[in-house]
Amino acid sequence: MTYKLPDLPYDKSALEPVIDAHTMALHHDKHHAAYVNNLNKAVENYPDVQERSPLSLIVNLDNVPEEIRTAVRNNGGGHVNHSMFWLCMSPNGGGAPSGSLGDAIDKQFGSFQDFQAALKNEAMDRFGSGWAWLCADSDGKLQVTSTANQDNPVMTGQIPLLGIDVWEHAYYLGYQNRRGDYIDAWWDVVDWSYVSSSYNLVRVGAKLDDLGDWASKQWSKVEEAWNKISGS
Ligand SMILES: [Fe+2]
Repeated sequence: MTYKLPDLPYDKSALEPVIDAHTMALHHDKHHAAYVNNLNKAVENYPDVQERSPLSLIVNLDNVPEEIRTAVRNNGGGHVNHSMFWLCMSPNGGGAPSGSLGDAIDKQFGSFQDFQAALKNEAMDRFGSGWAWLCADSDGKLQVTSTANQDNPVMTGQIPLLGIDVWEHAYYLGYQNRRGDYIDAWWDVVDWSYVSSSYNLVRVGAKLDDLGDWASKQWSKVEEAWNKISGS
């Protein structure tokens, strides 16, 4: 197994009542696990591809052999998106970001509430399955966007800082068809300290024009976070 399913950084019930334990169990143990398994299957016979981090794979899909490109896009994207999603949330989350990220959000969107409304619009407008994101462009400027299926903003040169999964598997048990209620509740579990640390990494490389370089640094941070969780 080349790619591994990370442990959740908290108990499955830790995000209740916003996200129930049953949803977390299915989402992590079944859905995320399936993306990892299918990514491993896709790269099985491609040792050169296996050496790359999941994030690096999807940053430049053109470098992935054509015959496995769609599988890597869907399952590599699914692995990256969910790995980041778990870290974007915490039982101690909620509130609003402070410091440089808080300032940048106010500057770009007018206020934190305006930013929340803009992200919710992206999430509501995403037809079918996908994600809504707070991203930075290569100059560090913030923007909101959404992606279909398991696509990630890095596929179009943006850097994801915060993402919300709006696939029905993320909310249907608790909220049924009420995607808006799920989004409204979700703010209570957003871990702004994680999002801020990602933003600070972008600011350090503010002139960054090599997304691949960012991808390896960012993936190291994600792995570092997992290692802390699993105590290794
Ligand atoms: Fe998901």
